[in-house]
Amino acid sequence: MQLTSSRSLVVLRLSSALATLLTLIQALLVILTVTKVAKLIAVHGMVGYLSLLSMIVATVAAFVWFRRGGNKGLMMHAGGVAVLMLVQIGLGEARVVWAHVVLGILIVLGAGALAMLAYRKPGGAS
Ligand code: HEM
Repeated sequence: MQLTSSRSLVVLRLSSALATLLTLIQALLVILTVTKVAKLIAVHGMVGYLSLLSMIVATVAAFVWFRRGGNKGLMMHAGGVAVLMLVQIGLGEARVVWAHVVLGILIVLGAGALAMLAYRKPGGAS
């Protein structure tokens, strides 16, 4: 099977896109809570665990893809975002709100960038 159509790359693409979608939903849930439309912080927390799960799947897929000759940077990127998500859950549960909000924005951007790279040029600049 060609490297750019291998199953692990397909899983990496789908799981990183899902993680991005989930983190965007989390931001939306926070906005709805802050604007007092509905109290959705508990749901935000639960979606947070799902985001972490899909980023772990993305990291494993990126690792498998790397072992088959894929790009090492994508594996490090996915693993890095997964670690940030773990820290983020700790900050959220501990109610360290400002650090959590800043890291949350970085995570949304990091997950989105990973998905874009995995779809557009997973092999690097070439
Ligand atoms: C998109 C940016 C994000 C913003 C603006 C944000 C904001 C918040 C806020 C305001 C709280 C409530 C803190 C409190 O109760 O005082 C919270 C809780 C929490 N957040 Fe986030 N968050 C973001 C992203 C994330 C992400 C990406 C994760 C996980 C990967 C996450 C996981 C959690 C968890 C586990 C809680 C605790 C929920 C609970 O107490 O039931 N958040 N967040």
